[in-house]
Amino acid sequence: MSRSLTRMGIVGTGVMGAGIAQIAAQAGLEVYLFDSREGLASAARDGLGNTLEKLASKGKISSDSARAALSRLKVVESMEGLADCDVVVEAIIENLEIKRDLFAALEEVVTSDCLLATNTSSLSVTSIASGLRMPSRVAGFHFFNPVPLMKVVEVIGGIDTDAATVDALLELAQRLGHTGVRAKDTPGFIVNHAGRAYSTEGLKILEEGVARPEDIDRILREGAGFRMGPLELFDLTGLDVSHPAMESIYEQFYHDPRYRPSYISRQMLKGGRLGRKTGTGFYQYEAGKKDASPTQPVPRVDSLPPVWVGCSDSAVHREVGSLLDSLGGKVEGGERPSDEALCLLLPFGDDAVSASVRFSSDPARTVCLDASIDLARHRTLMATQVTRREMLDAAHAMMSTDGVGVTVIRDSVGFVAQRVLASVVNLACEIAQRQIASPGDIDKAVRLGLNYPQGPLQWGDALGAKRILAILERMLELTGDPRYRPSAWLRRRAVLGLSLSSQEPSVC
Ligand SMILES: NC(=O)c1ccc[n+]([C@@H]2O[C@H](COP(=O)([O-])OP(=O)(O)OC[C@H]3O[C@@H](n4cnc5c(N)ncnc54)[C@H](O)[C@@H]3O)[C@@H](O)[C@H]2O)c1
Repeated sequence: MSRSLTRMGIVGTGVMGAGIAQIAAQAGLEVYLFDSREGLASAARDGLGNTLEKLASKGKISSDSARAALSRLKVVESMEGLADCDVVVEAIIENLEIKRDLFAALEEVVTSDCLLATNTSSLSVTSIASGLRMPSRVAGFHFFNPVPLMKVVEVIGGIDTDAATVDALLELAQRLGHTGVRAKDTPGFIVNHAGRAYSTEGLKILEEGVARPEDIDRILREGAGFRMGPLELFDLTGLDVSHPAMESIYEQFYHDPRYRPSYISRQMLKGGRLGRKTGTGFYQYEAGKKDASPTQPVPRVDSLPPVWVGCSDSAVHREVGSLLDSLGGKVEGGERPSDEALCLLLPFGDDAVSASVRFSSDPARTVCLDASIDLARHRTLMATQVTRREMLDAAHAMMSTDGVGVTVIRDSVGFVAQRVLASVVNLACEIAQRQIASPGDIDKAVRLGLNYPQGPLQWGDALGAKRILAILERMLELTGDPRYRPSAWLRRRAVLGLSLSSQEPSVC
């Protein structure tokens, strides 16, 4: 039976503890703040007083509710002050032994029906709860920073957690104005697991020398619709936080290549290039402002050759044909290109060389365009190692005619956006396949926790499960890297023509 949780204890009143305390007090809970460092809980309360006052002066909340929320925040000087709480949320340092000691001490203080929650982002909830007298009442309650703005919380049951504990925390999440998602106790839970695809694939593209950081970020921002590119995101978060997180997930999954981090971020971390906080990362920062990254200049060309388009998908072929018409290109209609034609190929998963083999085009006249992304927003081109310069320049100039950004990258499998999107969708499928969370919760968690424009499974459906599968299979074949092996969830649904969000019927 669900019970109303009205008194919340917060242990650790740093960044996360204070954020959780704020939303709980605003939602009407009595909140008791405790920090082992003297004065920090009071400082957190003072800080929250200022925050609430600012919200009121901006008209976001009324002065009365700001005052009422502040009056519900109470500082306690020792853990014993948490004795009457219905739920205690731990947000202390990310260290297993210290957290285990804390929970053991808490168990001596609180009543037997008090729920115990941990905000850990990388430790196992099961490990934190093991050895306690009542591990059934311990669950993960994983918020994101900044808590009041990131409206999602993962609720994680360990192997001994009662279903009622998870249900009560999901209900509490809703009262706090957050979307609660249910996740199994696995490395990275949902969000930090799913996020590995974007971050590590971005680094891998850089490692392979496919494009400059600014080009990779721009393609993914403008073309694919991500709010930030992966490399600028590293700079914002700081490699001191991101790189160890990547290594930790990789270790916890026993070196599964899907999670492989990069020597680039490791070296930058060792060299102190952490990102914005050190003034240098993938970009340079002056007084906190990113240096302007020059875009690639559009070449001047006197005349454009006719264009022959090669694509295995007739709808995409037609779409690019009409785009070229609108750009003033002379599109050839024949089965084969004429001798003067620029061969514009639209491959999925191939590099330019294998695409030219697939379409039997002259590699010296072959240029590839990534048709997996919104071509009204950005265009990515790549050529073979023997493509004539005038052919690449012509393609670049033609694609720039209407002012839409064009990026030329080095020949590589799956361009930039294709391989990143395929990796993002594939990893979300793997999370669903392992039943770490339901498809609906995976989409909600990733959209809200990582600010992706869509949930990854929904996105996969929009791009086409068959298309994603084809990209991954081709990349796997060309690179031999098991990182690109398609998830069974993706393959089976692509074959059956099912939505990636479709649940599996229960077999027992
Ligand atoms: N910062 C983030 O972006 C973020 C996001 C999600 C989850 N988390 C997790 O939340 C937890 C807290 O992170 P944070 O960024 O708020 O840390 P923080 O360093 O800002 O705050 C931690 C607080 O805990 C106190 N503390 C340490 N040991 C204690 C103990 N034994 N008893 C009582 N208080 C103790 C410290 O004095 C400090 O005030 C960690 O588990 C972290 O992994 C952090």
